[in-house]
Amino acid sequence: GVLTCHHYPGFHFRPRGKWMNDPNGPMFYKGMYHLFFQYNPYAPVWGNIQWGHAISPNLVDWLELQIALSPDQWYDRKGVFSGSATILDDGRPAILYTGVTGNDGEVQNLAEPADLLDPYLREWTKSAQNPIMNVPNEVNPKEFRDPSTAWKGGDGKWRVLIGGADASVSDGSALVFESADFQRWQGGKKLHTRAGTGMWECPELFPLPVRGTLSGDGQKHVLKVSLERYRLDCYVVGTYNLTDHSWAPDDLSVDISLAALRYDYGEFYASKSFFDSNHNRTLLWGWVGELSTEAVNEIKGWASIQALPRVLRLDENFNTRLIQMPLPEVEARRGVSYDLVNLTLQPGALLPVEGIAGSELDIEVEFGRPGVNASFGSNLMGNVSGNPEHCCQGRQRGTGTGLFGLLVLADRGLSEQTSVYFEELSYDNGRMGRKQELPICLCTDLSRSSRYLGVRKPVYNTTVPVLSTENALTLRILVDRSVVEVFAQGGRSVITSRAYPQLAVGQDARVFLFNNGSTPVVVNRFQAWQMQSANIS
Ligand code: FRU
Repeated sequence: GVLTCHHYPGFHFRPRGKWMNDPNGPMFYKGMYHLFFQYNPYAPVWGNIQWGHAISPNLVDWLELQIALSPDQWYDRKGVFSGSATILDDGRPAILYTGVTGNDGEVQNLAEPADLLDPYLREWTKSAQNPIMNVPNEVNPKEFRDPSTAWKGGDGKWRVLIGGADASVSDGSALVFESADFQRWQGGKKLHTRAGTGMWECPELFPLPVRGTLSGDGQKHVLKVSLERYRLDCYVVGTYNLTDHSWAPDDLSVDISLAALRYDYGEFYASKSFFDSNHNRTLLWGWVGELSTEAVNEIKGWASIQALPRVLRLDENFNTRLIQMPLPEVEARRGVSYDLVNLTLQPGALLPVEGIAGSELDIEVEFGRPGVNASFGSNLMGNVSGNPEHCCQGRQRGTGTGLFGLLVLADRGLSEQTSVYFEELSYDNGRMGRKQELPICLCTDLSRSSRYLGVRKPVYNTTVPVLSTENALTLRILVDRSVVEVFAQGGRSVITSRAYPQLAVGQDARVFLFNNGSTPVVVNRFQAWQMQSANIS
């Protein structure tokens, strides 16, 4: 069979043209949100890369504008690669981006609005000074890209991060360049580097408020890196030294590497944050690729979406961890709703939720913790690092105290289903010893999500730390035709995935609640809304 228009998202941004990858230069300017993106208007595969551009008053409805930056100079003729926007002191925005030269050198360039009176900022002028930074000696000139948003230090200098790698593309680093005027840039020292991590794409350093304030003691700075080698976005909470402009991770054991925390344990890459001065919050965009083959993408004619923007906060229960929640504005798209309270799922239960159906849904569920044990000594329960060994293997089916959750994008006969669930492991495997250290697992199992051929159907897993004082487990799930975004325990862990159902589409896309564990689970509250599509034109 051929994939159909049923998979085109209703309330996630993507351009009308064919291929998109990284979000670029997000900003709020004169009452309007801007999103640029890596764009191939000609084919649903990566190539001919330029900057598409769209604007929005509310981050949900979008108007796509003309291409903002195309490859028309010697220094970007092989590609207008990723970059960021910075709002300068006088309120003017500026873009820094990577250009790829005729012999594949990667160079950094400046572009400014051609007409500041155009509130849409449709036309951009590339600086006559381009390129504006020199690649440091120890950095591979073909692995030198993706300028971050710049920040201004107490010394009045602008600083920006560029991603880099050494000649053998083994050691990744984030390089700092400095400028007094945003035109001429010097430097190239490493802010941070890690051997054996490969190229660091799209690095970012940004502050997060601690207990509501953005200044003062204890201010945290997050370093985020997209690890090209593993195609994942990881972050580390650390401390920025305002005097010497150095940065160090707070917890070395979760420094940038496979052991670091990830924004998302599913399909989510090359993310970019920005400070939304309209609502005083930090938002995160991320590219969600397809799990279908290029051949399938050719047939359907488009590839990739942007994840819904997420609000980023520090999780003050775990100083090294971030909370992410979906953009609150999306709740304005909620329509018909259905809810349930105090429903007990007996072991083996599989309950169709009759009150709601659809492939564009927003769902909130709260489960009572099964078998909560009052004797937990520690205030933490859970393994906060990545790569859980025992999660989501299907091994505990029917044995543990927990293996419960939801099916979405499921047809009535269950020949298709996307399963989102928790596993609360109750056995003692010897290695972990004390019960309070056992992780609660979060899983998105796509293995039965589609009858089509030509799509990947992985099982994604991670752990969710749960405080012993918390006796409920929560899920927020956004379903948008071929996108399933899962936010567990108030946004402590996130899994984004893509599913391509053939039968479970429109009103034939059903929701089920299930409990495959050996003890009853209480659904304290279930609420679901049908979502109205956004206006994207
Ligand atoms: C990340 C990335 C960036 C680069 C861009 C090219 O996905 O590879 O490093 O600037 O995409 O499209």
